[in-house]
Amino acid sequence: MSYQPAKDKGFDRSLGILKDGYTFAQKRLQSQHLDVYETKLLGEKAALLGGEKGAELFYDNDKMKRGGAMPAFILKTLFGENGVQTMDGNPFEHRKRLFLSLMTPEALDNLFEITTKHWNLAVDRWKKKRKVVLYDEALYLLMRAACEWAGVPLKEKEVEKRANDFALMIDGFGSLGPKHIQSRKARQRSEQWIEDLILDVRNGKLEAEQGTAIFEMAMHRDLEGNHLDPRMAAIELLNVIRPSVAVSKFIAFGAVAMEEYPEEKGKVANSEDYLYYFAQEVRRFYPFVPYLPARTKKDFTWQGYSFTAGQLVLVDVYGTNHDPRIWEEPETFNPDRFRNWNGGLFDLIPQGGGDYEKNHRCPGEWATLEILKASFQYMSRHLSYKLPKQDLGYSLTKMPAIPNSGFIMKKVEKK
Ligand code: HEM
Repeated sequence: MSYQPAKDKGFDRSLGILKDGYTFAQKRLQSQHLDVYETKLLGEKAALLGGEKGAELFYDNDKMKRGGAMPAFILKTLFGENGVQTMDGNPFEHRKRLFLSLMTPEALDNLFEITTKHWNLAVDRWKKKRKVVLYDEALYLLMRAACEWAGVPLKEKEVEKRANDFALMIDGFGSLGPKHIQSRKARQRSEQWIEDLILDVRNGKLEAEQGTAIFEMAMHRDLEGNHLDPRMAAIELLNVIRPSVAVSKFIAFGAVAMEEYPEEKGKVANSEDYLYYFAQEVRRFYPFVPYLPARTKKDFTWQGYSFTAGQLVLVDVYGTNHDPRIWEEPETFNPDRFRNWNGGLFDLIPQGGGDYEKNHRCPGEWATLEILKASFQYMSRHLSYKLPKQDLGYSLTKMPAIPNSGFIMKKVEKK
């Protein structure tokens, strides 16, 4: 008998992925211990890949490419058009090095310091408030910190307006209707704001320090030796600031973890090693990016499944972070699992996997860890608050996910 691939029969499952959210692929792959499963999405045949082997195939540049993979409704909101996420080959590697060049040890230490400083300033403001919704406030806190780190001037009166636009880009991309339109407008406003600043740096109206993201994006030259088009440079600078602000989601989830597992707080406060394990487990355990898309470059067969050239492929990010073949008791929150983690390239993939230079793996992974370590250290050592009754749960069907209440705090004090 010929090989029969595991697949959904019949109709398109685009509504199914909206309904099941983070668990759509997991349900199909893990129930049968599979690495590949065929479904139909957005009117075309799509292969779902999961687990370590599935992730490794997804990052095989001989077989996969990014051009033409990301749906337009995501590019027009979350990422911006023609940015690094959609590039392949030499131009991609050249652009990717630009991002990686920002992540020097000094720059990362600086990000830790800047984040801690903004926590201190934020808590001074929160002390005067009757109630603080951590997720909302963390957006503003990280907007200030990310702009300072990137060298982007941000007036105090601009903070909320700009951060709210970022929240619309980050959260609105998956929505339909008016929220999607708002998300597109927020991107247009943000691109215009940053493009004007790029031009100011180029013509000397705005001083920028070498090594900062604004300087490097403004001055970068492509493989032909030309500056980036100012709108393109703005899109790439937004690709640094926007995801730095999005780390607010992991901060809110980390706060939930410290409440749900109260023994964690003391361990995080008292050990730098444990602080790192905790940050890693927050990134593994809680939902953020659900799937990533690619397209096949050619026809090939893998694990008996025949891929056709140009076929849509999605890697299951959340499911791989919860795959019982990789993680012992994946549904248990256990930072200690990172004590002996071997740093695999395709097992912990909340920010993508594979190689930083050759693949699309997130170049902001170290920056994310610095922001999280600074935040969790501050929260565990210096933040005191009362927790009113609220819903700290989260839904795996709402993409991207956040704690339902946003994490409400009262009587915030510094300890
Ligand atoms: C790419 C997640 C923080 C900059 C990615 C990818 C994911 C991701 C899933 C795509 C990987 C792929 O396509 O294979 C996250 C999450 C973050 C985060 C969950 C934390 C909340 C950051 C930060 C920065 C950053 C702090 C910059 C400082 C980028 C860029 C790309 C990227 C420029 C595109 C890389 C490429 O296409 O090669 N990120 N990221 N991210 N991330 Fe992040």
